[in-house]
Amino acid sequence: MQFLSLLAGASVLLTPVLAQTWTACNPMNASLTCPPDPALGLNHTFYFNTSTAVDQAFNVTAGTLNYGNNGAEFTIAQKGDSPTIQSQFYIFFGSVSVIMRAAPGQGIISSIVLQSDDLDEVDWEFIGGNATYVETNYFGKGNLSSYDRAVYYPVSSDTRDNFHNYTTHWTAEKLEWYIDGALVRTLPYAAADGGYNYPQTPMTVRLGIWAGGDPTENQPGTVEWAGGVTDYSKGPFTMYVQSATVNDFSTGKEYVYSDHSGSWQSIKTIAGNSTVAHKLTAPPPETIAQKWAKLPTGAKLAVYCSAGGVAALALSVLLFTCIRQRRAGRREREAYNAKVEKERDDAYRDQMELREKGLGGWDNSTQGEDALGGWGGSHSGSDDEARAPLTSKGPNISSYEVPSPSRSTSPGLSRMASPGPVVLSPQPQSAHAWAGDNQSMSGGGGYGNNSNTSPRSPTFPLTSQSPQYGSGSSKGGYHRF
Ligand SMILES: *[C@@H]1O[C@H](CO)[C@@H](O)[C@H](O)[C@H]1NC(C)=O
Ligand SMILES: *[C@@H]1O[C@H](CO)[C@@H](O)[C@H](O)[C@H]1NC(C)=O
Ligand SMILES: *[C@@H]1O[C@H](CO)[C@@H](O)[C@H](O)[C@H]1NC(C)=O
Ligand SMILES: *[C@@H]1O[C@H](CO)[C@@H](O)[C@H](O)[C@H]1NC(C)=O
Ligand SMILES: *[C@@H]1O[C@H](CO)[C@@H](O)[C@H](O)[C@H]1NC(C)=O
Ligand SMILES: *[C@@H]1O[C@H](CO)[C@@H](O)[C@H](O)[C@H]1NC(C)=O
Ligand SMILES: *[C@@H]1O[C@H](CO)[C@@H](O)[C@H](O)[C@H]1NC(C)=O
Ligand SMILES: *[C@@H]1O[C@H](CO)[C@@H](O)[C@H](O)[C@H]1NC(C)=O
Repeated sequence: MQFLSLLAGASVLLTPVLAQTWTACNPMNASLTCPPDPALGLNHTFYFNTSTAVDQAFNVTAGTLNYGNNGAEFTIAQKGDSPTIQSQFYIFFGSVSVIMRAAPGQGIISSIVLQSDDLDEVDWEFIGGNATYVETNYFGKGNLSSYDRAVYYPVSSDTRDNFHNYTTHWTAEKLEWYIDGALVRTLPYAAADGGYNYPQTPMTVRLGIWAGGDPTENQPGTVEWAGGVTDYSKGPFTMYVQSATVNDFSTGKEYVYSDHSGSWQSIKTIAGNSTVAHKLTAPPPETIAQKWAKLPTGAKLAVYCSAGGVAALALSVLLFTCIRQRRAGRREREAYNAKVEKERDDAYRDQMELREKGLGGWDNSTQGEDALGGWGGSHSGSDDEARAPLTSKGPNISSYEVPSPSRSTSPGLSRMASPGPVVLSPQPQSAHAWAGDNQSMSGGGGYGNNSNTSPRSPTFPLTSQSPQYGSGSSKGGYHRF
């Protein structure tokens, strides 16, 4: 997707059309001095099976996410939904590997986007109605004037049913897109308008899903690009993101544009640890056991003693209660027995009297012990009515979004789709292995048998690295790891 296309006509300060597309301050605007970009400054793998990663390092810029065994769930359940997250940090060259399953659904677009403040952009986009292709794209400095940047590549198995590894490897020299470890596309610096429109400024990482097929929110060209009109009744449509490994190739606390050129040479790195780095490297909060272990002996003793005191007190109270209870019980039993004896005696006497008078005889029916009381039947039968009926749990996906009124209104701001996207089978690429990364091409796979069918450059150096996820995936993709 062209996040940028929404911002075309840069002379107007636009309200964000989608949250993802927003740049708070464009450093190329000569009348602005933009705040520094908080850096990541390290390498980190974010696992999305809980909310921790998002809480620590991302802003939820639209909608809500759920978390499960398949990772973060980005769901479109109804019109207007477009859950999206954006990293709080920036990377200044780096690599991003996202392990994800795209959402199904005609017109539903799942996306991985890197975007900078001056609107450099690198994209992966998944068209929900197309199971086997992924679109790669890029933009430099918000230049939308040509539409030949989108290139589609085949993926070895259904992108909606299988986890795959979509990796962007980005340096000052070249930009590379990898699918499951296989290099599919290389953009050398000079190939992007002599480098001027090469993505080269600090980027945030954005993950999200939107309905490109909603005709009330998008131009016809966009709906067509998205694969047709979205039928929300066929939803919900969910994109699953298991993890994202983000390696920042710069270190530092912040990245600063030192001028308005938007060139990578103008970016200064400020030394230090970033806010996010602090959060990610902070030791986990202490458990009670750890806190206990740290207490000085005196304090522990005091606690033991007071705990012992409490225990002794509790015991004495309990004993007293038991004894009292037993005493009370004995008194009650004796009274009861006495009562029974008396009743029997009385009854016997009555019977004897009657017999002596020659009237009637022993009548068992009125003389059972139950007649003396005991457990009446009166409490039974009421329990069931007190039980509340089980409430049925509603759908666990909720989203409270305000559809943006500006979404499709401004002329020239449409999500213009490429009229004739270039569709390529993977071309042989020259043998670029990125420096210092010996796992760039896991020849043995790493995704089960995927790599056997994954397109790759015949000249790409193969290593003998063993599978990284050998244990689980046996059939295409990251079923488990
Ligand atoms: C630059 O920023 C100023 C102040 O926000 C704004 O008025 C102007 O339109 C911006 N110029 C461009 C080209 O975006
Ligand atoms: C981050 O990973 C890259 C490879 O992707 C490596 O070259 C670099 O040394 C790593 N940086 C740190 C701080 O570990
Ligand atoms: C989340 O995934 C990570 C990495 O696979 C694992 O170590 C962790 O135990 C998982 N957490 C939960 C709550 O499943
Ligand atoms: C994330 O949200 C915080 C708080 O709203 C904001 O200050 C910060 O600029 C946001 N980060 C990015 C990268 O948008
Ligand atoms: C998926 O996209 C590719 C590339 O655009 C195209 O060749 C193919 O026909 C599409 N498949 C479907 C089912 O739309
Ligand atoms: C925008 O991109 C087009 C096509 O690549 C190029 O011809 C043009 O010079 C670029 N414009 C700017 C201002 O860089
Ligand atoms: C994803 O692919 C990249 C590029 O080949 C590789 O370096 C990385 O280790 C892979 N990530 C996972 C989680 O397999
Ligand atoms: C950054 O963090 C590391 C490890 O957490 C620490 O050793 C180092 O002193 C910190 N640097 C700064 C400038 O705070």
